[in-house]
Amino acid sequence: MKQKIQSMREAIEAKLSSVATTAELREIRSVYLSRTGEIPALMKQLGSLPKEERPEAGKYINEFKNWATERIEECEATLAAKELAERYEREAVDITMPAESRPMGALHPVTLVRDELVRIFSGMGFVVYDGREIEDDYHNFTALNQPEDHPARDKQDTFYVTDDILLRTHTSPGQIHMLETTKPPFKAVMPGRVFRCDDDATHAPMFHQLEGLVIDKGLSLCDLHGLLDTLAKAMFSSDTKTRFRPSYFPFTEPSVEVDVSCMECGGKGCRLCKGTGWIEILGGGVVNRRVIENCGLDPDEWTGLAFGVGMERIAMLKYGLNNIHLFYDGDVRILSQFH
Ligand code: DAH
Repeated sequence: MKQKIQSMREAIEAKLSSVATTAELREIRSVYLSRTGEIPALMKQLGSLPKEERPEAGKYINEFKNWATERIEECEATLAAKELAERYEREAVDITMPAESRPMGALHPVTLVRDELVRIFSGMGFVVYDGREIEDDYHNFTALNQPEDHPARDKQDTFYVTDDILLRTHTSPGQIHMLETTKPPFKAVMPGRVFRCDDDATHAPMFHQLEGLVIDKGLSLCDLHGLLDTLAKAMFSSDTKTRFRPSYFPFTEPSVEVDVSCMECGGKGCRLCKGTGWIEILGGGVVNRRVIENCGLDPDEWTGLAFGVGMERIAMLKYGLNNIHLFYDGDVRILSQFH
């Protein structure tokens, strides 16, 4: 027995001296020390010894077992430290290296203008309503009192899907949806995309408008002036002045075109305002009685104010761009300049 143990001890020493990984070491531990390993097997052989030899042999095996356990644990500690050191080396991160730069995105100028308009009108208690980009002829034209022979109904100007369905040419049909579904009084703005067969430096086949609609009792053009004056001052600068010029839209009566004092020269006259000191920014008016009637409300009881503003136009004025297509070319050199 002693001899057997001695040779086992030598075998263990030999294996431990050449072991290279903790995985190999686990294997050695299992061969000798696991429940079915060689050292527990020695214990089982005790029974075959003469009775008087058993206590001493048992002690001897136990000491051997303790020795083997200790040696393997020692070896394990050394190997684990070595493997950790290697891993630190392998996975080292140089924290002094400059970080990879990530390009920052910027909001599109039309998004900036829309957010600004929505913020201003929300502050005045307006709700925001999403209209539809695909409309029927009734909501886009008829309900808005746009007669059959109105030039805007020309097939040349409108993208028709079918005889009756079209891409909305303005956000004004949103007024009709609001009036059909919302109990007055209310104040709403409706931002969104609109479509027209039109293409030059200041017109694009798709652009953005924001429609405004206020329905209440006893509204007049004075209320519209107050509202739009507040808007112009918030949008451009606190000393911006506003003026109304008479105009015509089928859905408003009276209708006005709204000018603001030139943001470039302050009203003295320059190239931007073509020497007039004024710049047109939107159309509006008092909602035509027939529109209110078309939506099932009594025009003697309810009055309305409406306006529609082109967001690209505002963005061009605000940011000094002279070509609407710069908004859609997707050139980051242009788009990243607006904050
Ligand atoms: N829908 C008009 C357009 O696209 C703009 C407009 C003018 C809207 C007057 C209105 C308004 O609500 O009252 O040219």
